[in-house]
Amino acid sequence: MAAKTIEDIDVRGKKVLMRVDFNVPIADGKVTDDARIVKALPTITRLLDGGAALILMSHCGRPSGKGFEAEFSNRPAAERLSELLGKPVALGAGEVGGDADRSAAAALKAGEVLLLENVRFDAGENIADKATKNRDKKLTAEQDAKQEAFTAKLAAMGEVYVNDAFGTCHREHVSMYGLAKAIGAKGGPAVAGLLVEKEIRYLHEAVADPARPFVAILGGAKVGDKIRLIASLLGKVDRILVGGAMAYTLLKARGGAIGKSLVAEDQVPAMEALLAEAGEKILLPCDHVATDDFAAGEPVEVDEADIPADLLGMDIGPKTIAAFAEVIAAAKTVVWNGPMGVFENPNYAGGTRAIAEAVAEATDAGAVSVIGGGDSAAAVAEMGLEAKMTHVSTGGGASLMYLEGTPMPPIEVLDAK
Ligand code: 3PG
Ligand code: MG
Repeated sequence: MAAKTIEDIDVRGKKVLMRVDFNVPIADGKVTDDARIVKALPTITRLLDGGAALILMSHCGRPSGKGFEAEFSNRPAAERLSELLGKPVALGAGEVGGDADRSAAAALKAGEVLLLENVRFDAGENIADKATKNRDKKLTAEQDAKQEAFTAKLAAMGEVYVNDAFGTCHREHVSMYGLAKAIGAKGGPAVAGLLVEKEIRYLHEAVADPARPFVAILGGAKVGDKIRLIASLLGKVDRILVGGAMAYTLLKARGGAIGKSLVAEDQVPAMEALLAEAGEKILLPCDHVATDDFAAGEPVEVDEADIPADLLGMDIGPKTIAAFAEVIAAAKTVVWNGPMGVFENPNYAGGTRAIAEAVAEATDAGAVSVIGGGDSAAAVAEMGLEAKMTHVSTGGGASLMYLEGTPMPPIEVLDAK
């Protein structure tokens, strides 16, 4: 990786501000999937063992930016982290980087941990691209002032900046980007954590000089988000297998019947052009599990690519599974993003499950596999197959941005090696 990491710096006796992605699912005040916390532990323990006083920052969900909201508190994450570390983790105040946080940070000793409250409680955090990517948007003077004020509050608490929040690296937010610059301006290092380093290494290895055949599996619903990805992958991979809701837009673009299936009409022309360019490289479903009602219908097998007018596709069918599995079995590199069907409903989980198993088997046989995206990562974890994959990314949008070849500002801003 081009950026320096925590291995390149000495943190003894330093106050280290580290951005993590503890945006984890929570139910009844408890973390229900701690994967993102667990994956930040190597960096956390390394810094603590190295003599740092550690100030962690994270967002959780998408609060309104008008101050503390209990529903979006980092408290459950602090409690889980404390259990995992076997030591107390202090929680910051509702005003992030306010007087209370500042004195807590000042009093923090080497080996101690403070997790600030949700950075998105402050409107300055993501004012530049409120939960989306409009980085080019010009800020008003007032927005600029809010952003600067929040940056200064955070920067005042530490002297070293670490980014280990790979899952948020597609966001140019204060705690991800502006803060790294501000610490740099004070003469402090801004470096990557071990998770960010590992994520980028695996993604880079997978796409830069991949062992072939190189197969990409794409699914999920957001076909609009993935057009650029498909276009850029066409030049890199040998096959692209498309399942999930985005497949119906491609089937329609190929001239097929898709019944009542979810379709991104505005993407159909772009997909027609893409299919013309791709030739045999893109493999689409040739059969389906469908239904007449998304929420309440019974599953119906559709034995061909065309879907009857009264049905909507919900999952890939057995012939598609077999065809995809054959391609995956021969692959030496596999990148997978997005489920093959509505896998939250057991009636339509068969495709995602079968593909996960096929990828696990290919990995067993020596292929490199990278799973990106919240849903596919969750599906793999739920099936207990995580350890069988080469790398399960903590990033969805972030791993897509990397695979597209789009530079990630939060990484670019870190100190160069
Ligand atoms: C995620 O879960 O995708 C990351 O934590 C980023 O969250 P966001 O999409 O709300 O920016
Ligand atoms: Mg998300």
